[in-house]
Formats: sequence, structure tokens, C-alpha cells
Amino acid sequence: MRVILLGSPGSGKGTQAQFITQRYRIPQLSTGDMLRAAVREGTPLGLEAKKIMQSGGLVSDEIILRLMEERISREDCRQGFLLDGFPRTIPQADGLAAMGIALDHIVEIVVDDEEIVRRLSGRRVHPASGRVYHILFKPPRQPGKDDETGEPLIQREDDKEPTVRKRLQVYHEQTEPLVRYYKNQADRGLVKFSSLGGVGDVEKIRDEIFALLDRN
Ligand code: AP5
Repeated sequence: MRVILLGSPGSGKGTQAQFITQRYRIPQLSTGDMLRAAVREGTPLGLEAKKIMQSGGLVSDEIILRLMEERISREDCRQGFLLDGFPRTIPQADGLAAMGIALDHIVEIVVDDEEIVRRLSGRRVHPASGRVYHILFKPPRQPGKDDETGEPLIQREDDKEPTVRKRLQVYHEQTEPLVRYYKNQADRGLVKFSSLGGVGDVEKIRDEIFALLDRN
């Protein structure tokens, strides 16, 4: 199964991706996680991406497409994959199409901007695994520690309010047009497109997504 999760920053893509990848046994391909790993490792890509990510802007389409083409060609993607945070612009979607990969499902998670700003201020992450928590809605068993490893959780640099607002603006300008792009493809029978609300119980949203993916 080849799935794209679309949605604004903080809409719950990473949270739901963890459930989907377990159930359907497909890898999660998160460009955000890949870029953050490059930043931590101090690679040339990481050095280039760091400032852009901290400002809430987007890394260039050319770099992202190169990164994803290499990742998708690996063995573990042969039975499918879940794309989280990619594509994020029309040129990225065109680049993905040019790789000749047929997609099955596009799932859009919709959450309004003010809810996102509230949510992201409480997010905490375990950098090594990408596990995501929230101090109120999904607290770790021990405050500030990852449930599996006990390692410290961190707050992402780009989760401060001014940067979140910038990320939301960039989302509306550059990524939201992908909704129309993929709806058009769905109208032509090339892919299935579904949209659902991302506010409320995480497990309820998970079950709604499972039902959508299982339906066909
Ligand atoms: P990226 O890492 O992709 O960030 P994002 O798309 O902004 O998404 P987030 O990871 O912030 O949110 P999410 O939707 O995964 O939500 P989560 O599940 O964590 O990208 C970061 C940066 O990298 C970009 O700004 C850009 O610079 C660069 N980049 C990445 N990809 C790129 C690309 N393709 N092209 C160019 N540049 C790129 O949930 C958020 C919080 O809410 C958590 O605390 C969670 O516990 C909580 N939560 C989840 N669901 C619920 C719920 N139902 N109710 C209450 N709380 C909930």
C-alpha cells in the first residue's frame, strides 16, 4: 500500500503514521525526520537545512526530491510506504509522479490553525525514534522521558509560536494546493482521496483512517 498523509504542521500526521505503519507493515518516510537526522549528524544537507527549518520555511524541491528518490528506491519500500511531510509543493508532487510510482491513498487530516498553535506548544519528541508525545493529550509515563528507552524528550526548535505561525502560512500557500491536485487525480480514478477531521481522540481518528484505508 502506498499512502500519503497530507495535513498542516501539527495536524497529527506523525502520530497517525505510527499506527498505520504498524498495521500495514510499511515504512514511514518522513522528510522532516530525515532532515532533522541530517541536522543532528551535521552533514552538508543538515547544515543547509538547519536555518531554513528553524525559520519555518521549506527546503528546496531539488534537494527533497533527490533525498526521496534515493529513499523510495530502497528494498523496504517495495511493498509500499507511507509518506509523511512529502510532497509539500506542486513541483514535489510532479517529481514523485515522474518517478513512475502509482499511489493508492491520499488521506488529508484537517485541523484549524489556532488548535495547531495550542497543540505544538505542548509537543515533546524522542529524537532518535521520532516518537511523539504531548504534555496534556499524550503524556509520557514519566514526565520528560521516552516510554521505551527512558531517554530525555525535547521540544522542537520550530515549535515556538512565531515559527509555528510561519509554518502554517507556508502550508496554506504552498502545500494546501495539493488537496486540489490530488482530488483532480481521484476524479480521474488514479488514486483514492479522503479527508477527515483531526480534532478529538487520537484512537478514534486512527480507527477512522484504518476504515478508510481498509475500504478499498
Ligand atoms: P515536518 O517534520 O514534516 O513537520 P510538519 O509537517 O510541520 O509536521 P509536524 O511534524 O510538525 O506535525 P505532525 O502533523 O506530524 O503532528 P504530530 O503527530 O507530531 O517538517 C519540519 C520542517 O522540515 C518543515 O518546516 C520544513 O522546513 C522541512 N521539510 C520537511 N519536509 C519537507 C519537504 N517535503 N519539503 C521542504 N521542506 C520540508 O502531532 C503534533 C502534536 O499534537 C503532538 O504533540 C501530538 O501528540 C499531538 N496530537 C496529535 N494528534 C492529536 C489529537 N487528535 N488531539 C490532541 N493532540 C494531538
